[in-house]
Amino acid sequence: MYEEHEEGTTNHRDIFDKCRTDGGYFGMMRARDDHYFTRPTLPPIAGRVMEFDGHPTVMWSVNNYLGFADSEEIKQTAIEAVKEFGVSSPMGSRMMTGNTPYHQELETRLADFTQKEAAFLFNYGYLGVLGTIQSVVGPDDVLIMDKLAHASIVDAAFLSRGQLRVFKHNNAENLEAVLKHVNRSRKGGVIILIEGVYGMTGDLAILPEIVELARKYDARVFVDDAHGWGVMGPHGRGTADHLGVQDGVDIYFGTFAKAFASIGGFSASRKDVIEWIAYNARTQVFAKSLPMVYVQSLGKALDLVTAADDRRDQMWANSNALKQGLKEHGYFVGPGDSPICSVFIPVRDETVETVGIRTVTFLRDRGIFVTAITYPVIPLGLCMYRMIPTAAHKPEDVARTVEVFQAMRDELKLDFTIEKEDLVKVRKVFGT
Ligand SMILES: Cc1ncc(COP(=O)(O)O)c(C=O)c1O
Repeated sequence: MYEEHEEGTTNHRDIFDKCRTDGGYFGMMRARDDHYFTRPTLPPIAGRVMEFDGHPTVMWSVNNYLGFADSEEIKQTAIEAVKEFGVSSPMGSRMMTGNTPYHQELETRLADFTQKEAAFLFNYGYLGVLGTIQSVVGPDDVLIMDKLAHASIVDAAFLSRGQLRVFKHNNAENLEAVLKHVNRSRKGGVIILIEGVYGMTGDLAILPEIVELARKYDARVFVDDAHGWGVMGPHGRGTADHLGVQDGVDIYFGTFAKAFASIGGFSASRKDVIEWIAYNARTQVFAKSLPMVYVQSLGKALDLVTAADDRRDQMWANSNALKQGLKEHGYFVGPGDSPICSVFIPVRDETVETVGIRTVTFLRDRGIFVTAITYPVIPLGLCMYRMIPTAAHKPEDVARTVEVFQAMRDELKLDFTIEKEDLVKVRKVFGT
């Protein structure tokens, strides 16, 4: 029943009232109409050097791990697909009218490549994580999530209506305690939700321990390998393969938005599990099918990524050189075993915002584009730069970056030494 109101006679709050405040997650930046630190305006093609704020900058903030963002072969495949199929086809969801032999063939290839029985495509990685977890988890089930898991996993846990528990990042002891506790009163199934490579910090999941614990306590393992798929291991088969435990991963998830420099994602698992996901993942059942232009481009990207060991070698060489160069100049580089380079500096006499803003401005103004991560993602008292070396970077990009970091150390007169008390906080980030 609708209640009728004369206009202006109630003093109810308008749902949009909050939009006139400076609130919201990034409220301070929004209030400043910031386009420097948040939502920086950049040219559309990702590359090693990108124009920012009127001058070229060496780009360390784009997940173009293998440098395929400007691949002529992928562009050509996409052009041919658009000529043949247009930009929207097939129309409709996979369930109704959007399923084609091309989608199915790509899924078979993804299943083979990830050594699983079957795979299912999603239109975005975010939607894939959401749909996969929501479909397999019911109200009686328990999700046990790593504290540093990506926002898509957090959102999926809420959408699923299962009971959420969190364990300390990469901490097997704490995970075991949670599993024991959950098993005392469990009514349904249990799934452990982790990333393969943690995208913010660059450390790898302690997958062998997690797989063993899952078997011991009758739980399943879901790995979001957004940053490891195409990047880690021989042929880029991902973090679990790299660590020799792909068999122990019950649902392997990859996105195409990073090493594949495209869009979409997939889950790979047992055949019955994938069929269940295909019929129950709301983000795909009720969404239009992935357009042919992407299906075809992804097929080409899969050919290229699997054959790109030379590019992976280049990416590792750039990563190692960057980490080494920064360490030599006294910077503290996180212990992660992925190409991601996380650099920590302590914050003592100033606020973390001031240090973040001063240092990022110093670097960007001198042609080095980095992004700073601060509290609440990492503990107060630390500022972290998350840098992504790619196969596209050149030795001179690394050399110039190290040089500017050195100048920052000297000119800003900040003490960048990580002391014992800072190390405790860094350890907290990495769960060690
Ligand atoms: C760990 C992780 N999972 C999922 C996603 C979402 O993937 P997509 O960008 O393909 O939607 C991201 C993207 O940032 C990610 O880093």
